[in-house]
Amino acid sequence: MHAVDLIQKKRDGQRLSRAELEFLIQGYVEGRIPDYQMAAWAMAVYFQGMEPEEITDLTLIMAHSGDTLDLSSIHGVKVDKHSTGGVGDTTTLIVAPLVASCGIPVAKMSGRGLGHTGGTVDKLESIPGFRVDLQPQEFISQVNRLGLSLVGQTGQLAPADKLLYALRDVTATVESIPLIASSIMSKKIAAGADGFVLDVKVGQGAFMKTEADAVQLAATMVQIGTLAGRVTVALVTDMNQPLGTRIGNALEVKEAILTLKGDGSPRLRELCVQLSVEMLLLAGKTQDRHEAERLVEERLKNGDGLEKFRQLIEAQGGEGRVIEDLTLLPQANYSQDIPAPKGGFIQAIDPLTIGICAMELGAGREQKDAPIDLAVGLELQTQLGDSVQKGASLAKLYANDPQAMERAAALAKEAFTIGAEKPVVPPTIYRKILAEDV
Ligand code: URA
Ligand code: CA
Repeated sequence: MHAVDLIQKKRDGQRLSRAELEFLIQGYVEGRIPDYQMAAWAMAVYFQGMEPEEITDLTLIMAHSGDTLDLSSIHGVKVDKHSTGGVGDTTTLIVAPLVASCGIPVAKMSGRGLGHTGGTVDKLESIPGFRVDLQPQEFISQVNRLGLSLVGQTGQLAPADKLLYALRDVTATVESIPLIASSIMSKKIAAGADGFVLDVKVGQGAFMKTEADAVQLAATMVQIGTLAGRVTVALVTDMNQPLGTRIGNALEVKEAILTLKGDGSPRLRELCVQLSVEMLLLAGKTQDRHEAERLVEERLKNGDGLEKFRQLIEAQGGEGRVIEDLTLLPQANYSQDIPAPKGGFIQAIDPLTIGICAMELGAGREQKDAPIDLAVGLELQTQLGDSVQKGASLAKLYANDPQAMERAAALAKEAFTIGAEKPVVPPTIYRKILAEDV
């Protein structure tokens, strides 16, 4: 086999076989195939697309290019949840304990934040003492004991994707649905779950800007998951405003705790309930959607979800009393309100600007591995569609550095649009895409 023939085949719109994709991907990982040939193939895929079976082959080859997690010693169906990344999206911290409190095991690996979106691992580290670096055996035995563990990535999951993603980044080939879908699904499959609930964000603060693109990505990932023998569903959800009202690591832990107590933002709560329902259905807890919803609502109301979160924190060395005493979380030295420059309706809260504002405060990182400040961030005091008076607080900013506060305050003002007309507020969830829909 020669790489040039495979590039030509894809250039001319033909499907590559599993053996051909293996030749390309393994050759690339092992350094036999150079960047320029992989880049040419990626560009050919960008223009010609891929067949569903072809995308699935690519995904599985990348998933098996490095370490894979074996969760088979955990009893039951292990369902993982993945979000394509949003602002104020602290769903994992709520959904994981809720689902676990319904008796479904949750063994989840998460990443750190990059750019304007936060990462679950960073958020968890704002809980004093919390350890995200469990060894695989510790991780698995905790899930068997407690039904739940949340950790950072260990080992080398899908190294082929890591190489290919870096190459795509500098060759204008990131924005290809087959390549994005296989990239995401390869990492999820390597992490060992039997099924996936995918949350594909759409809007100004998301990777996918239009509903049509988000639906296509969601459908492609559901198809890959299903063809790879994993039960998979996707929700296409709104990212035209931040999901929750708090943005920043400790602030998002606070919001998760408040939500598990029944006091969080309604949009965040709604999405968490629906993601949990899908996880229960995939795990076979029940086949009845209404029954699943009843179970999840019950765990929210009776405090079982909150109690499971406390158990998780304590099992991983963290200070469980944060549940009662939120001041045990890191606190910023300064706070400042952003006043409304005029009265009217909140017509837009740009999630991308809010995310960048949080990053400016120190809550996020532009470069991988850069240090972050767990205490800082912002709390929205208004939601899309609210009516405000001139001077009312739109958001409260928390900072440890007065200069960062100044820069962030200027940005935060830009995030809000106020006008005379009441806007149409987009729904939290646009669509569900089930295996039978694709
Ligand atoms: N996120 C990923 O993990 N991969 C992509 O290709 C795009 C977004
Ligand atoms: Ca993103």
